Amino acid sequence: MRAVRLHQPAIDGLSVDEIDVPSLAPGEALVRVHAAALTRDELDWPLDRLPAIPSYELAGVVEAVAPGVADVAPGAAVFALTPFDRDGNAAEYSAVPAGLLASKPKNVSHVESAAVPLAALSAWQGLFDHGRLEAGERVLITGAAGGVGHFAVQLARHRGAEIVAPGEGRADLVFDTAGGELLSAAQGERVVSVAEEADGATYFVVAPNRAQLIELAALVDGGVLKPMIDSTFPLAEARAAFERTMQRGKHGKVVLSVTD
Ligand SMILES: NC(=O)c1ccc[n+]([C@@H]2O[C@H](COP(=O)([O-])OP(=O)(O)OC[C@H]3O[C@@H](n4cnc5c(N)ncnc54)[C@H](OP(=O)(O)O)[C@@H]3O)[C@@H](O)[C@H]2O)c1
Repeated sequence: MRAVRLHQPAIDGLSVDEIDVPSLAPGEALVRVHAAALTRDELDWPLDRLPAIPSYELAGVVEAVAPGVADVAPGAAVFALTPFDRDGNAAEYSAVPAGLLASKPKNVSHVESAAVPLAALSAWQGLFDHGRLEAGERVLITGAAGGVGHFAVQLARHRGAEIVAPGEGRADLVFDTAGGELLSAAQGERVVSVAEEADGATYFVVAPNRAQLIELAALVDGGVLKPMIDSTFPLAEARAAFERTMQRGKHGKVVLSVTD
């Protein structure tokens, strides 16, 4: 199969290689990847392996399952956030722990579905699990047009919170997806950042969560949550795709479209 692999931790350390389709360990499902989404800075995240396949979220169709796997069956259209400590999904096939796979939203494409897991789970966990956002509270979201930020705005509104801009007074919750000066300047009773560690802010790493993913899929299918796609690239243009993730002025997610 074709797979994007990182040989050195930088964009020019990426190449598209021909490698074996992964074999299945117990508890895993083999997914034919239709789309895999990218996250800014992900090539800088710590790695205990090289070469490494990047992209930690996918949408696709189950091709096969390991013996005894009952969570999913071949033919199921699925999406997932996959673990950071193993190869990701920028490839034609990916072996995924079957318990992490949820049915993909039915009313949107694979590209739009692949844009959801990492970013929308980050938004959900940042706002609700770590930020304890309640209806009626005022929330300031930095990087509101970005991959995580655009989901955070929609989820916060759906929860009944009021979105405030910098300069509109102290917020009950700051949810930061930008880091740097925007994080330093943000004033809030509670400050949660997914972008960087900082004094006075709770930093967290998003965790796979199938139950939350099922709720997110229902919100997408209900038209409440709309994934925004900044741009799509074929696997062969993975370097250009990662370059796009690092640019300013994006609207939503950068996605590799692997197969139609
Ligand atoms: N800890 C975790 O588990 C986790 C999970 C997801 C994401 N992340 C990290 O969180 C950050 C946001 O991810 P994302 O996918 O939402 O990124 P993104 O799509 O690039 O969005 C970031 C947003 O922040 C804004 N921004 C303001 N100041 C910025 C600056 N100095 N540099 C870059 N952007 C700036 C950008 O808007 P303008 O360009 O329009 O100003 C952009 O829309 C990334 O660093 C990512 O690696 C961490």
